[in-house]
Amino acid sequence: MSRSLVVTIDGPAGAGKSTVAKRLARQLGYRLLDTGAIYRAVALAARRGGVPWDDGPALARVAAGLPIEFAFVGEVNHVYLAGDDVSAAIRTPEMSGGASQVSAHPEVRTALLDLQRRLAEGGGVVVEGRDTGTVVFPAAGAKFFLTASDRERARRRTLELGDGADLETVLKEMRERDQRDAGRAVAPMVAAQDAVLVDSDGKSLDDVVAEIEAVVRARAGAAAGPE
Ligand code: DC
Repeated sequence: MSRSLVVTIDGPAGAGKSTVAKRLARQLGYRLLDTGAIYRAVALAARRGGVPWDDGPALARVAAGLPIEFAFVGEVNHVYLAGDDVSAAIRTPEMSGGASQVSAHPEVRTALLDLQRRLAEGGGVVVEGRDTGTVVFPAAGAKFFLTASDRERARRRTLELGDGADLETVLKEMRERDQRDAGRAVAPMVAAQDAVLVDSDGKSLDDVVAEIEAVVRARAGAAAGPE
């Protein structure tokens, strides 16, 4: 029997993490944990509660009591905040910026550790984020760092945003966000030492998923002791 692992996929925005994580989870029969959605939900809850995005201690209180729930409806991973479906509200460019800002506060990151670990309890879960292989799940059974060039990532994000999105604007915002995410003092976005680096430039998503799935299956099988 193979073991149910915690699989972490970290990397910058637009590298294809969400799509890859979702497909991988489906193919492995694993759950999916989108940690970026949690930071986005903190930004939204703070905005709704009148808490400024630069007030670390107050944001940590919002994060500690975050009434967040996830549920798959068909192919879509819905996010609920106190029962309210906020799946679309957390994906606006404003909340992308907000999530990046709130995630830079060490108090917020600490407050969210427990929640993330609780949501991944028992393994059999694909976790996507920035620091899931380094800080949140250092003992994860398989870790990946998914990247692509920033122009390619911006091109994909522009397509996702659809009508009216401008490549150069998206690229500029993406570079700013990358810098903030990689440059922050606490839990910067870096590959874990034991992460497998996967560059998705010029590869189809199917190829990327297949590459990652092969590693996970090998690890899950290899991790199982004699029965
Ligand atoms: O993956 P995403 O674009 O939904 O993430 C939103 C923001 O949250 C991103 O700017 C970085 C932050 N984030 C983080 O700091 N740590 C994580 N594990 C996930 C996201």
